[in-house]
Amino acid sequence: MPHTPFRLDDRVALVTGSATGLGQAIAIGLAQAGADVVVSDLPGQSTEETAQAAAAHGARVLHLDLDVRDQEQIAAAMETVKAEFGRLDILVNNAGINRPTAGLDVTRDIWDDHFDVNVKGGFFVAQAAAPMMIQQGHGRIIFISSQSGLIGIPGQPVYCATKGAIINLVRTLGVEWARHGITVNSIAPTFVETNLTRTRLQQPEFLAFVLGKIPAGRLALPEDVAAAAVYLASDGAGMVNATTLSVDGGWTAW
Ligand SMILES: NC(=O)c1ccc[n+]([C@@H]2O[C@H](COP(=O)([O-])OP(=O)(O)OC[C@H]3O[C@@H](n4cnc5c(N)ncnc54)[C@H](O)[C@@H]3O)[C@@H](O)[C@H]2O)c1
Repeated sequence: MPHTPFRLDDRVALVTGSATGLGQAIAIGLAQAGADVVVSDLPGQSTEETAQAAAAHGARVLHLDLDVRDQEQIAAAMETVKAEFGRLDILVNNAGINRPTAGLDVTRDIWDDHFDVNVKGGFFVAQAAAPMMIQQGHGRIIFISSQSGLIGIPGQPVYCATKGAIINLVRTLGVEWARHGITVNSIAPTFVETNLTRTRLQQPEFLAFVLGKIPAGRLALPEDVAAAAVYLASDGAGMVNATTLSVDGGWTAW
């Protein structure tokens, strides 16, 4: 196959939280572009559907239980990837939670739960993946932040804070690790209908508010986010580092 800058042949990718939603679409998109994929999610969450769809594109697929809050599981996951594939080229830190809670009602537990998964989890998976990438002299680390990290959305201050933290985390890690051939970026999608957002988007008033903010006039699709991940993972994005790619149909531009 001729080399094109957006193909991912011979690359190995790990996607966290890929049983469903955006993680599932990203894992399938990376497979479609030629990568082998490690699909992972919380223990007990089946990644079978994702694995089958990725394998249908010819990818070699490995399932892993990986709770991103668990340091032992993170270390074990990296050992398994090394033993099975001998390398890790692409990490997509997709796992995330959002339990919308107004500022006056936020408890310390709600605060910690969000930061533990969305920020601390992603950071320590990236930290564990980096040594393999440094050894290879090549790596792509992609966090899924959100437009909620660029703007405030009433009713979810903690989620917005976690996503803002990711946006500055990728700036710093991208600068630190660039000399090893690693890029670290994030994707900031607008609303996509998934298990995370379905209940809110099914409320006509909320949906109207959201659509009224998106100049493109529609929600994003999981495939829109997957395409951005394929781009950032590719050789074509080698000079795109320490930044955030909005996939929001223009919401954050005005
Ligand atoms: N859906 C949207 O509108 C939207 C918009 C912007 C950003 N995002 C972000 O995209 C990512 C994926 O969201 P989604 O909409 O697909 O949500 P989702 O709830 O459909 O999927 C999230 C996945 O993460 C997994 N997960 C949760 N906690 C985990 C943990 N501790 N360890 C490993 N896996 C864990 C879940 O089991 C689930 O499979 C999240 O980071 C989310 O914040 C979503």
